[in-house]
Amino acid sequence: MKIVVIQGPNLNMLGVREQGIYGSMKLEDIHGQMNAFAQKDKIEIEFFQSNLEGEIVDRIQECLGDADGIIINPAAYTHTSIAIRDAIAAVQIPTIEVHLSNIYQREEFRHKSLIAPVCAGQIAGMGPFSYHLAMVGMKQILVELAALREHKAKAQQA
Ligand code: DQA
Repeated sequence: MKIVVIQGPNLNMLGVREQGIYGSMKLEDIHGQMNAFAQKDKIEIEFFQSNLEGEIVDRIQECLGDADGIIINPAAYTHTSIAIRDAIAAVQIPTIEVHLSNIYQREEFRHKSLIAPVCAGQIAGMGPFSYHLAMVGMKQILVELAALREHKAKAQQA
């Protein structure tokens, strides 16, 4: 089971940027916690951060045939990027959208996610814990998909 975690623009600035909104935890620390969860559950995990839309599209495309699940915080691209949405739709890998802040409580331009309609789910507003919840959710999705596949294979044999 392999999960790729994709972090969008300015998330490399966590711990420095707008601490009142995003808290004081650095991105490396969030990744450290996710790593610990993954290790405990024997999940392979990879992390990627970019400030560039095209690089994020490339990384999503690279997940095809390689990753079982994607956890993505598209950051500001959440509200603008048809390209990232199309990439997620193209690879058809279960994807969970994550936000540290409650985007629905903030400026109106953050209320709309172009990404959410192509995701299995969205977690927002729980601070760094949003990422932990995304890991729990993704694990559940992948376990259920594996069970479904096994069930189908058995049914074909019968
Ligand atoms: C964010 C919310 C976005 O609106 C914003 O542009 C970000 C971070 C979040 O995690 O709360 O950069 O995705």
